Amino acid sequence: MGIYTTVMDEVALYTGLSPTAFFTILAMMVVVYRTVTNMFVSPEDYNKPPVVSTRGNIRFDDDAKPAAEPVQLGEITEEELRPYNGSDPSKPILMAIKGQIYDVSSARNFYGPGSPYAMFTGKECSRALALLSFKPQDINGNLEGLDESELAVLEDWEYKFMEKYPKVGQLVPSQRTQQNEHKEQIQDNFDVGKEEAK
Ligand code: HEM
Repeated sequence: MGIYTTVMDEVALYTGLSPTAFFTILAMMVVVYRTVTNMFVSPEDYNKPPVVSTRGNIRFDDDAKPAAEPVQLGEITEEELRPYNGSDPSKPILMAIKGQIYDVSSARNFYGPGSPYAMFTGKECSRALALLSFKPQDINGNLEGLDESELAVLEDWEYKFMEKYPKVGQLVPSQRTQQNEHKEQIQDNFDVGKEEAK
């Protein structure tokens, strides 16, 4: 008790403040110091990717894993693109613009389940982007009837996606793939016929 009273007396003597006022001011200074220092990045952490925790604090993580290399899908149909809509966390999130498929998994805040642009995922969305429309009936690759300014809007989106996201494939119409398979079969039969005729 003696030490406590001496410390309080010393505080009052040296600062001219009551102990309560002194410790309140001290606590506020610590809070301000911690808030301000948290706003800056130390030189060692400058090039490390930030990790945002669920509590909203940013920390710099040495063990942050590099993003996985995007998987190339080649030519797929719109039906095959559907499952890449973020509902399966083991699959990348994909969307297509002018037939080109982009891996947008890096922007889960825009495209992950429940996010504002999730309706575009797993789909060809050229028409919706050209018209700046969220209507389900516009989320497709039909460019019919679009005017020059709408096509220019679409081109801007295309450039944005080309710059920002890896391209992982192209869309092919499902009928065309079936037609192509059919044509290939005819060609094969024709080639076999020619071989046999020799
Ligand atoms: C109320 C009107 C809208 C507001 C305030 C708004 C706002 C925003 C903002 C702030 C961003 C983030 C931009 C960035 O950081 O790069 C964004 C992204 C985006 N917006 Fe909108 N938006 C609106 C309407 C639309 C419409 C009509 C569409 C298309 C139909 C659209 C499609 C997108 C897409 C696809 C992205 C993500 C682009 C990316 O992947 O980087 N937005 N929007």
